[in-house]
Amino acid sequence: MTLGSTALKDLFAHDAGRVENFSWEAAGIWFDWSKTHIDAAQVAAGVARLHQADFVEWRRRLAEGEVVNETEGRAAEHTAERGTGAEDSVAIARALHARMRGLVEAIHQGLLGEISHIIHVGIGGSKLGPDLLVDALGREHARYELHVVSNVDGMALKEAFGRCDPHRTLLVIASKTFTTSETMLNASSVIEWMEEAGVEDCYGRIVALTADPDKALEWGVDETRILPFSDTVGGRYSLWSSIGFPAALVLGWDAFADLLAGAAAMDRHFMEADPARNAPVIAALIDRIYVEQFGCQTRAVFAYDERLRELPGYLQQLEMESNGKSVDHAGKRLAMPSAPITWGGVGTDGQHAVFQLLHQGTVIAPMEFLAVIEPGHDLDEAHHLQLLTNCLAQASALMTGRYSDDPARSYPGDRPSVTILLDRIDPVTLGALIAFYEHRTFVNAVLIGNNPFDQFGVELGKQMAREIAESGAGHMDPSTANLAKRIGI
Ligand code: F6P
Repeated sequence: MTLGSTALKDLFAHDAGRVENFSWEAAGIWFDWSKTHIDAAQVAAGVARLHQADFVEWRRRLAEGEVVNETEGRAAEHTAERGTGAEDSVAIARALHARMRGLVEAIHQGLLGEISHIIHVGIGGSKLGPDLLVDALGREHARYELHVVSNVDGMALKEAFGRCDPHRTLLVIASKTFTTSETMLNASSVIEWMEEAGVEDCYGRIVALTADPDKALEWGVDETRILPFSDTVGGRYSLWSSIGFPAALVLGWDAFADLLAGAAAMDRHFMEADPARNAPVIAALIDRIYVEQFGCQTRAVFAYDERLRELPGYLQQLEMESNGKSVDHAGKRLAMPSAPITWGGVGTDGQHAVFQLLHQGTVIAPMEFLAVIEPGHDLDEAHHLQLLTNCLAQASALMTGRYSDDPARSYPGDRPSVTILLDRIDPVTLGALIAFYEHRTFVNAVLIGNNPFDQFGVELGKQMAREIAESGAGHMDPSTANLAKRIGI
């Protein structure tokens, strides 16, 4: 059974140059698209479609800080944090980075007293980026122990409290809006915990990361410890701004600067490379092939490296909050499917849990394998060898399949995957990788025709939670009213 008109493995037989044509390096990262159904004709058709969708103009608007988020009437200026954007925005980003660096270095020098732990409260984009960065890069030389708390379930904070000394803890409140109810409640509870422990001047131990500094000031954070960022930097694109502060604090400023430099290298590639050799463009064209031509409703990302275990979660927000929409720029219903569901995990764990379906299920999930050549540890090299051989074997097995007379033991094959190979995990490479995903999401949005920078879909639930909190659930649908009664709300 083949998914496309030609089986994947046969594409190699038809094109002796397929490996060279569909695997190459961009901004220091090796991408292998050859085990997907893309071919020269699909690339040509995709490039023509990009032309029709005015891709070059959209990309110019993004790069020059013009309005691309039309429903909210603003630019999306995450690349300005990396040096590409409107002159003023780049200058502001630089100045805010300098302010952030000043605070990072002052804390390193002991300005806020002895600090051993950081409790970072934030959710969504105000959590996922810092968490990913520190988990990936901060395993060896972290200066502080970082606890990122997002869930409003008190169990999450309790766990952090159990591991921190309130007298040596810095509270970082990360919220673009500084109104997100989960974050504000968690922040208040950290202060209470410090007060109960007899910490003097708890408010002297808070740093706020926000695009609304006035709100942080009103909340009681000292002006000198408020690190603002621009309103035009979206939450899920914000780790380059002051939202990345915990990473800069834990890893050091040089690491943070390298992260920005890596992202800038990918920005240059995205802005300048020919579409047919442009990594975010090719990735997005492949995404659309699977969603539109093959009806795939999900895409799976498996990181064959423990240091990237937070990446699938990070990408879920980036891709699903950006391109999980039903209407286009003009508010008309989309003529094509939106982004698929992003999901995934780590290899080799996934192999012993969910890969059964990926190999033999009746639904197809295009896969993305991430592997790193240099191990992050000095244990027996058998570990890394086993990790990487499994990664290669899975991608190959999915594509080639294997026939057996026993149907239960037969592997249909023709299941597509992309492999992304990093030389090592360092700030430069990780910066380039994350920027690659951002631009891929942008190209997908241009192809779909939706605005990737708003997220109105999250508002209704928040509003209804407020309504229940204020006036109970008696007026809601019968199921909800009954559940609320049972809970006692
Ligand atoms: O509810 C969704 C959302 O607005 C995300 O887009 C955002 O990353 C997250 O909430 C947190 O928002 P804030 O940084 O304003 O607290």
